[in-house]
Amino acid sequence: MDSILVSGGGELNGQIPIAGAKNACLTLMPATLLSEEPLTLTNAPRLSDIKTMTELLQSLGAEVTSLQDGQVLAMSSHDINNHTADYDIVRKMRASILVLGPMLARDGHAVVSLPGGCAIGARPVDLHLKALEALGAELELKDGYVHAKAPGGLKGGTVDFPLVSVGATENVLMAATLAKGTTVINNAAREPEIVDLADCLRKMGAQIDGDGTSTITVQGVDRLHGATHPVVTDRIELGTYMLAPAICGGEVELLGGRLNLVGAFCEKLDAAGISVEETDKGLKVARRNGRISAVDVVTEPFPGFPTDLQAQMMALLCTANGTSVLEEKIFENRFMHAPELIRMGAQIDVHGGTATVTGVDRLKGAPVMATDLRASVSLILAGLAAEGETVVSRVYHLDRGYEHVVGKLSGVGAKIERIKGQ
Ligand code: EPZ
Repeated sequence: MDSILVSGGGELNGQIPIAGAKNACLTLMPATLLSEEPLTLTNAPRLSDIKTMTELLQSLGAEVTSLQDGQVLAMSSHDINNHTADYDIVRKMRASILVLGPMLARDGHAVVSLPGGCAIGARPVDLHLKALEALGAELELKDGYVHAKAPGGLKGGTVDFPLVSVGATENVLMAATLAKGTTVINNAAREPEIVDLADCLRKMGAQIDGDGTSTITVQGVDRLHGATHPVVTDRIELGTYMLAPAICGGEVELLGGRLNLVGAFCEKLDAAGISVEETDKGLKVARRNGRISAVDVVTEPFPGFPTDLQAQMMALLCTANGTSVLEEKIFENRFMHAPELIRMGAQIDVHGGTATVTGVDRLKGAPVMATDLRASVSLILAGLAAEGETVVSRVYHLDRGYEHVVGKLSGVGAKIERIKGQ
């Protein structure tokens, strides 16, 4: 297994290009199943999760061709000849569950493995299943698989989500586009990735209103046609790299960044003493002056502070002036980066869903272990400003969600290299 060596110290200056959003691409790709005509995605990120979704769609009979070094995905689902999403693929990536709604809407039947949990939590899919049942789906759980049927096709219905779920909103939104009649989704997720999916579905002929708000209304249509759609900028990669100059000093421009993607996050950066300026190319980030101030953070569904930036924010706050309290309210086990940061000299107390971080002057480099996708990058950020060398192991987690990390960070002056595993 590869690892990443970071030598701390030194300001960062220059530009970092931000890729298309992993979490948008992972729901846009299954949308190809809703039409027999080609769907082409541009600005696609080059990530292992995208390769896994490609494998899954190809196993169902879809054609997925990666062009322009992976930035264009030309897909066609003209001949879907398999309606079973196997455990061996689904267990690698939970977003595989997002083929369920589209397959059900297209052909009235699907068999999809339950994804199982992951490091950050149990990650149930009960809300996905209940939402599809509200559209008339008949579901049976057997041998770890969801067996879904909609013999007469899906029918429009009302979906009342008891809690906000990004994936469940995406699954039922895709299914509703081909259901007979009107679907209303209440307490829908409002993430930019939902709006991006709705934009793409509208280009395919879907009739959707209210995306980006808590209530989405869909008028079902008989069929959808092909389209070409650019994947929205990745707000989590954007926020992650905004923290690099915040932690190290210097000034970095994040190309493609827009304030509306990271509103709540920027409010916290401002309170911590970091300036963010919107330019015609993206977002320019720099420390205003001296030491970072401690701030409190509570993770919430969009437009609140994103859970996917909690680990990275903690890395910043480890050397802030004062004590910060971070509350993780989305997932039940998303502080696994804390013990690794403590190995670097951070002072963090974790009790249940709350982490209290008491700022220290400087972290010290150490060998640390990546435990999940966002934790892995928070350790790299911590290593960028730490004294001495930090070696982050198990970087396969990183490859799931961050393309060319070494290239992007060394491009602004970071001393970072990838070490091939034995
Ligand atoms: C999406 O996961 C993202 N993944 C996650 O990003 C992100 O952290 C999460 O949304 C929250 O923003 C993708 O888009 C591929 P949820 P998802 O359904 O859809 C509970 C990353 O790092 N829940 O909004 O799985 C769930 O356990 C990943 O890129 C149910 O109880 O998240 C959680 O506590 C990590 N039942 C809460 O809802 C369900 O059926 C929010 O989960 C579904 C979810």
